[in-house]
Amino acid sequence: MDHFQYRDGVLFAEDVNIPALAEQVGTPFYVYSTATLRRHFEVFAAPFKHMPHKVCFAVKSNSNLGVLKTLAEAGAGADVVSEGEIRRALAAGIAPSNIVFSGVGKTKDEMRFALKQKIFQFNVESEPELLALSEVAVEMGAEAAIAIRVNPDVDAKTNAKISTGKKENKFGIDINRAGELYAQAAILPGIRVQGVSMHIGSQLTSIEPFQQAFAKLRGLVEALRASGIAITTVDVGGGLGVPYEPDAQQPPSPEAYAKAVLDAVGDLGCTLLFEPGRLLVGNAGILVTKVIYVKPTETRTFVIADVAMNDLLRPSLYGAYHDIIPVVETSAPLQPIDVVGPVCETGDTFAEQRPLPLPKPDDLLAFRTAGAYGAVMSSTYNSRHLTPEVMVNGNAFSVIRARRTYDDLLALDSIPEWF
Ligand code: LLP
Repeated sequence: MDHFQYRDGVLFAEDVNIPALAEQVGTPFYVYSTATLRRHFEVFAAPFKHMPHKVCFAVKSNSNLGVLKTLAEAGAGADVVSEGEIRRALAAGIAPSNIVFSGVGKTKDEMRFALKQKIFQFNVESEPELLALSEVAVEMGAEAAIAIRVNPDVDAKTNAKISTGKKENKFGIDINRAGELYAQAAILPGIRVQGVSMHIGSQLTSIEPFQQAFAKLRGLVEALRASGIAITTVDVGGGLGVPYEPDAQQPPSPEAYAKAVLDAVGDLGCTLLFEPGRLLVGNAGILVTKVIYVKPTETRTFVIADVAMNDLLRPSLYGAYHDIIPVVETSAPLQPIDVVGPVCETGDTFAEQRPLPLPKPDDLLAFRTAGAYGAVMSSTYNSRHLTPEVMVNGNAFSVIRARRTYDDLLALDSIPEWF
């Protein structure tokens, strides 16, 4: 359920008219819906209300301060993977006690910063990382609360590029070897073991991989407790998928996901931690673009839009599908169309031979389900601007990342002083 609906044939974001917004902001731009974000958070968190838990939003999926603030106000913490993300979470008012720090390559500087802020938990992913963290904590006279992220060797059955819970992936510690590392962590200075954690991949569309992984995690908690290590937090990661494509396998509902979590680890007496990203923001955002040209060739009809792979990388990088809809409904018949951008790469393609009503130059199109891993993965490739972002709330809107000037873009570089 989202709040991007047609009214009298014109697309609205909540009560904001998209063509009017495009007129003011210029295209392309992302739009996020406050009501959708709040609703998604509420639906996700509701089943866990009766027990201690933290829903730590995966900041990497959408790190705009406007989005973070909205989720923080709804009750979200943050799952972060860099000092930059910690700084964003803090700037949005997320308490350090609601921040978990994930990632395979935390540097000592980042550890120092996180320890200084007194974040809730480090999810440690390797022995060298554990030793580095101990060293930094001792040096600071601090104590790092940790979970070890285990790799349960479960096939998440998602795109290989975003699968993280198989033995051959770089993430986590082999669950069968985790006991040894926990034993080591338990006696290391500056380290306080508090939990277990996992994350097996993103955009999961079936419940079984979660169930398998959660069962293994439970086994680990029981084994650790039996060996005298107290475990008080269980972090089950993120990964629940969202519906992108009408004909594809649909992801499990948040209710089915919650049941799988509660069935497996709900009775351990632990604080449950979650790291959802896409589920909270995916359907809360669209990307609006304007058609520049329509170019019929012998074999194809290309619609060349003013949005490109630098604005939304997912189709080029993962072959990802995003629904593309006209902003003003039309009765034009459907025909096979290739929607492409202006960037000089054939991979700058959003849809091939997709049945769509043929638009005209200057018509607006919207890419749905663009709120997660959209703006955050944008770049200035081809010296294009970073895509602006707008947030709507009822009939109000706010530009939460403005389009920069070409002077700003050029000012990022400098010419060597020897010229
Ligand atoms: N926790 C950890 C440790 C993660 O690595 C991730 C995502 C999440 C949580 C959030 O997962 P989610 O709930 O959003 O599935 N750029 C890719 C997705 C990369 C996901 C990376 N890790 C895409 O556009 O599909």
